[in-house]
Amino acid sequence: MYNSALHKQISQGLKKRKIDIGNSDNMFYTRFVANATTIQFLYNELYQNHLDCDDLFNQLIDVMANAYTQRPLALKHRDDDKEKKGNWFLSNDIAGMSLYVDRFCGNLAGLPAKLEYCKKLGVNFLHLMPVMQSPEGESDGGYAVSDFRKVDTRFGTIEQLIDVQEQMSRAQMYLMLDIVLNHTSHRHEWAQKAKDGDKKYQDYFYMYNDRHLPDQFDKTMPEVFPEAAPGNFTWVPECNKWVMTVFHNYQWDLNYSNPAVFIEMLDTIFFYANLGVDVLRIDAPAFIWKQLGTTCQNLPQAHTILRLIKQCVQVATPGTALLGEAIVAPKEIMKYFGTGLYAAKECDFAYNATHMALQWDALATSDTRVMLAAQHELLQKPYGTSWITYTRCHDDIGLGYDDYMIQYAGYDAYEHRRFLKEYYSGVFNGSPAKGALFAVNEKTGDARISGSLASLCGLEKAVYENNEHGITEAINKILMMQAHSFFIGGLPMIFYGDELGYTNDYSYQEDEGKHYDNRWMHRPVIDWKKNERINEENTTEQRIFSGTQRLIEIRKKLEVVSDFKNLTWLPPHNIHVAGYLRTHNGKKLYCVFNFSSKAAWLTMFAFKQHGPVSSTLFDHWRQKEFTIGYDHEYFILEPYGFYLLEPL
Ligand code: GLC
Ligand code: GLC
Repeated sequence: MYNSALHKQISQGLKKRKIDIGNSDNMFYTRFVANATTIQFLYNELYQNHLDCDDLFNQLIDVMANAYTQRPLALKHRDDDKEKKGNWFLSNDIAGMSLYVDRFCGNLAGLPAKLEYCKKLGVNFLHLMPVMQSPEGESDGGYAVSDFRKVDTRFGTIEQLIDVQEQMSRAQMYLMLDIVLNHTSHRHEWAQKAKDGDKKYQDYFYMYNDRHLPDQFDKTMPEVFPEAAPGNFTWVPECNKWVMTVFHNYQWDLNYSNPAVFIEMLDTIFFYANLGVDVLRIDAPAFIWKQLGTTCQNLPQAHTILRLIKQCVQVATPGTALLGEAIVAPKEIMKYFGTGLYAAKECDFAYNATHMALQWDALATSDTRVMLAAQHELLQKPYGTSWITYTRCHDDIGLGYDDYMIQYAGYDAYEHRRFLKEYYSGVFNGSPAKGALFAVNEKTGDARISGSLASLCGLEKAVYENNEHGITEAINKILMMQAHSFFIGGLPMIFYGDELGYTNDYSYQEDEGKHYDNRWMHRPVIDWKKNERINEENTTEQRIFSGTQRLIEIRKKLEVVSDFKNLTWLPPHNIHVAGYLRTHNGKKLYCVFNFSSKAAWLTMFAFKQHGPVSSTLFDHWRQKEFTIGYDHEYFILEPYGFYLLEPL
């Protein structure tokens, strides 16, 4: 709906800033006017009853104009290039890696020299784990930020970060950084002022004089870290108040019912966008709106905030895509892509956390039925949005899919999850996995799983036991797990170290700032001497690295793997085999994976069910042709084997 007063306000504001709305900046101006009513509508949905609603809306307009003014010309050109490509981030050409700068290469200054390594692997997209200022020992891996605009001295300087971005951009690489939207460190300036009694900043957080409201909130809010940080509130002796701390006690939740907080954080988002961030990872968006009597997760207002951010970003820094890190139930994750009128107008990306966990489910049980039972939900993803697909990341694995999906496969949900936890923590007799339980909640019986890809696939144990067969089996599992996530659709994100099989690192147990958090076991410190072994024929490192490298190479060759809502699941002809078909522009790719330690037989009919197919299939993985036989004949997959089959 057009609003002429708003139109006038925008043109005047832009002219005052000497933005050339008639010529060079006309596209920006057009985007602004086109989105303005939606922006105002979403903003009012959240803040119309707030006393400063109008004043702060004017500020919002100003923050957007400022963001555009500050945007470096090179980035504006990059925006145009992406616009021309259209849906640039759905491409099969992108492969990502997520890494801690200090643990990967010491600091930002050391990163450019490692770009060659990434390129060798085929990675052209880096997610740098949080690098902004965060107090040592109370940092949650950088997710407790004390200054959103200052790079932590441990990593380097903001100039070095910009230099990294520029070098990456010249090397045709993409950059992802985090915005930790939900909370600040208790050492952030706003929190310090709140502690000093400054009312304005106390309103930036959820602060209470007594336990009355905190107790009520606690009744319905789950605990994220029940062992390390029980409850959702922390006593602040400096100002004699309770403050909401959903994560650790040093992470104070920001109060988004205060529009001033929203505007400050929008400005911060633009600051990151103008550093040249291609994908902005919005940390923990499920938590950003709180309401008494609810779980304070996935509330409708959290979606309104994300939609508002999306609209603003699309106007001022349109080349920045948004990733919503919502690790929640499948049905809830889907909503972060936007629903109804806002379908595909909220987050451009979400983590396919459901599928990630389901891969681990299938690997432990050798049964793919739970995985299949969840797909009807995941296939709802709107066209134009995409997944981050992954097997491991810096966080734990949560078994957050629904009970009914487990029951559908004929299992009891409680027993099934108990089995998975026992299997991956290595307690289950005969399990080759070496992981650990994370965030065990004695009250609810819930727990999640820590451990590196290699250790959970059995490599740590097999190496310890000097078991050649076990090592080969672990490598096959690692590559099968990676392949499954690389070809399913979305941007594959490798967790650093997994490309050559780093096993768990237990040194965190001696570190005061880390011992309470076993997620550190799967966050390795890279030993570049070890990494050199990727060049030695037949080392474990070389076998995993070259396999991963080849998978990326194959992915980049096949446009059919781009994420165009072009995924079809093959019916479960064999419960050990998960198979999907990718189609695009008349091309097809059958991807079949055997999650079992024994050979699996798949009826040839599986390849004919989705329309006629030529009788020869070329397997890109083995570089070998296969003939499709009669329906009563079988395609035989070796243990943990997978095939990437293109009809010729
Ligand atoms: C996200 C991060 C996780 C962190 C949490 C709190 O879930 O991925 O590492 O602990 O947010 O910021
Ligand atoms: C919360 C977040 C999830 C993260 C976890 C950290 O549950 O939603 O993203 O994995 O915290 O362990």
